[in-house]
Amino acid sequence: MDEQTLTITDNRTKQTYTVPIWRGTVRAMDLRQIKTGADDFGLMTYDPAFMNTASCQSAVTYLDGEKGILRYRGYPIEQLAEQCTFLEVAYLLLHGELPTEEQLAYWNCEIMHHTLTHENVKKFMDGFHYDAHPMGILMSTVAALATFYPEAHNIADPKCRRKQIVRLIGKMPTLAAYAYRHRLGMPYVSPDPELGYTKNYMNMLWKRSEPQYAANPVLARALEVLFILHADHEQNCSTSTMRAVGSSTADPYSTAAAAIAALSGPLHGGANEEVLRMLAEIGSKENIPGFIAQVKEGKRKLMGFGHRVYKNYDPRARIIKRVADEVFEVTGRNPKIGIALALERIALSDEYFIKRKLYPNVDFYSGIIYEAMGFKPEQFTVLFGIPRTVGWLAQWQEMLQDPEQKIARPRQIYIGEDRREFVPIEQRGQRELAHA
Ligand code: CMC
Repeated sequence: MDEQTLTITDNRTKQTYTVPIWRGTVRAMDLRQIKTGADDFGLMTYDPAFMNTASCQSAVTYLDGEKGILRYRGYPIEQLAEQCTFLEVAYLLLHGELPTEEQLAYWNCEIMHHTLTHENVKKFMDGFHYDAHPMGILMSTVAALATFYPEAHNIADPKCRRKQIVRLIGKMPTLAAYAYRHRLGMPYVSPDPELGYTKNYMNMLWKRSEPQYAANPVLARALEVLFILHADHEQNCSTSTMRAVGSSTADPYSTAAAAIAALSGPLHGGANEEVLRMLAEIGSKENIPGFIAQVKEGKRKLMGFGHRVYKNYDPRARIIKRVADEVFEVTGRNPKIGIALALERIALSDEYFIKRKLYPNVDFYSGIIYEAMGFKPEQFTVLFGIPRTVGWLAQWQEMLQDPEQKIARPRQIYIGEDRREFVPIEQRGQRELAHA
């Protein structure tokens, strides 16, 4: 018998089935043949929250959560963060190979050329309330781009697809900066393609009356590294959303807006904002034991800790800690880093966290750096969304080109009422509602 198989005995029927094992998985559809009789639908798998289900094959990002390894297209994240620009990494994620000098120069030009938005985008943005959350603005304006570029629905055409990819990567910092300035009531600053991706973003955020914002090179590089670290993370919640929505063949702007919605949640990208609020609430090191006690009683969560896949130190958090030191050399030390380090030390020596393999994730330290650089907490998740757009698009493109993929459509186990007869309204008694 082929060793790469799994033999299953159905104790209901005493029948035996042999199914292939392929790359450490069995195909859920191979279980459908396991039936108790002709009218049995066949065996399904049940996996709420996708704890143990691979939904696709992907060549973009490799992650070993037990060993704390992260690679984009085979390259260790540590090397990319050390040696690349963000757009170089974006090229790698989307094309599969690092660019040559010539390819990179052309790619930089292409992306920066698409940083400008239609003037109507500004009017659209003006309609938001003055204190609208930047993630809400970003989500809506990205969705609105679909109406500016109606040809984008033509997702089967590789040329058209590429154009939207370049457009969206180019426009994300512009939309993010406009959302920020709208909140402050400051005039929008048009993109300056000559500045490059991160310095142009900083200019659009912080330029006042001077001709050009003079970005500190250390801070600009730190932002570049943070963008690289956030660019992709395989099948996380927002990327899976991108794939699921994209599988309906919706246009990439509407699809990316759905991914932004998923990212905004506090358990996902929204965690970086929550970490800062948590550190502010803890306030000083003396309050850490009391806070930890509340976490252990299940009353609170230690935001920025834990991960579905990492059961070891998140390699991105390690790099971010190093970047923090470089940033603080310029900005001065953010006092919250002291609380964060003490919190990490206490948590990592506590049985509750050790038993559950809870380590700091990418969001634990990123907000502290962003705050030191001058960002407000409500912008932190936007800073996650700008680079993650590249990962979303790389995975979306891969999904569209995968002949095995179809519209995403899970099954369910129905647990509701059995068939019952309709009751006219005058005959209905008061019944306790199971669903409020
Ligand atoms: N604080 C306290 N307890 C926690 C935490 C935490 N941050 N994370 C997990 N646990 C506990 C959880 O209560 C559970 O305990 P028990 O076994 O007694 O019920 C156990 O650890 C396993 O957790 P889980 O909720 O089953 O794990 P999950 O894989 O479903 O959730 C997570 C992963 C990231 C949503 C979760 O760890 C969490 O809520 N962390 C805080 C939010 C956060 O930092 N999110 C950012 C994630 S990394 C970047 C990104 O993807 O956006």
